[in-house]
Amino acid sequence: MEEVFKAKKITDKVYWVGVVDWGLRNFHGYTTHRGSTYNAYLILADKVTLVDTCKYPYREELLARVSSVIDPKRIDYIVSNHSEMDHTGALSWMIEQVRPEKVFASVMGAKTLKEHFHWDVDVVPVKTGDTLDLGNMKLSFIETRMLHWPDSMFSYLEDEGILFSQDAFAMHLAFSCLFADELDRGLVERESATYYANILMPYSPLILKLLKQVKEMGLRLEIVATDHGPIWRRGEDIAWILGLYEKWALQKPTRKAVIAYDTMWGSTDLMARTIADGLAAGGAQVKLTPISGSQRSDVVTEVLEAGALLVGSPTLNNNMFPSVADVLTYLKGLRPQNLIGAAFGSYGWSGESVKQVREVLEAMKVDVVGEVKSKYVPSGEILQGCYSLGLQIAHRLDEKVSRGV
Ligand code: FEO
Repeated sequence: MEEVFKAKKITDKVYWVGVVDWGLRNFHGYTTHRGSTYNAYLILADKVTLVDTCKYPYREELLARVSSVIDPKRIDYIVSNHSEMDHTGALSWMIEQVRPEKVFASVMGAKTLKEHFHWDVDVVPVKTGDTLDLGNMKLSFIETRMLHWPDSMFSYLEDEGILFSQDAFAMHLAFSCLFADELDRGLVERESATYYANILMPYSPLILKLLKQVKEMGLRLEIVATDHGPIWRRGEDIAWILGLYEKWALQKPTRKAVIAYDTMWGSTDLMARTIADGLAAGGAQVKLTPISGSQRSDVVTEVLEAGALLVGSPTLNNNMFPSVADVLTYLKGLRPQNLIGAAFGSYGWSGESVKQVREVLEAMKVDVVGEVKSKYVPSGEILQGCYSLGLQIAHRLDEKVSRGV
């Protein structure tokens, strides 16, 4: 395998030895339209160090890429920045192949790795500010608890100015190049936003704290090497992605309104389109997302930069539509903030869906401005109510944007 899977050089001393998963389409419920990568890094210091591994099925590819640079048995240290199995699935196997002198993880990581693998490997716990002497280089650590697991941490190679940031600043995007500046900027922004919305959004308050901490530490960031997708190597690109993270984490009000809905015989669809017309007439930027033609993760990505979320569902067997329940369950866990919203939908006789949707929105702390229900097919009066609801929400968004809160 080492004949074909080669390492890629980042600097004279640091190589990418990860895996490209072109075929990945589902990452625990998040639709990955363009695959992903599991990045691992080899530091050729006096103490040769491997940072992170990959999913278990790709272990031979990882080993081959390492072997294309050095004999894997020369690896002295393995650092695990994050215990999730897309980065540690191959860890036990790599330890057996390499027999490193030591394995390092955060304090929580040392614990969770044992809970994952039920092994007797001694993992050295490290905490923020600890440094690891690699002989001619130095690696330091920053715990990033709940970004996005309790064990998560950054490793920083001072000598080269490289921050190994695990899932932070990452994206699910398979590539044949290596660096973000080699890819279309629009694509990079879209995939970064999708990743943030689906993985990191619940931890936005912690991200704001971390961004402040990184700024205060005054780290020289020459390269940000993530665990998924391309590597950031230009100063302006690193500043750009840090700026986007700050914007996404703040979740300030915008004029964008997302309507997510499903329909049974077209009535809820007609209501959605009428509400959209009212929103547009009021100056909102509308994004209509029929759930039947969308992935839950794409709906969530639309919500990331939205100020309003309107959810429509027909009633089916005394419940909201299963597809709407799916999206709401997923979205609730991702804890979007600072949204106003509305519930709407059609029904035949019992009509529970609108109340149920409203309850979920309220549980998500969405400020629910109103609701509209239609028995069977919407009448002109009901459609007028939908249009007015759209207008009302557009005006509320205007107020919020003007006040900036
Ligand atoms: Fe890429 Fe949280 O694992």
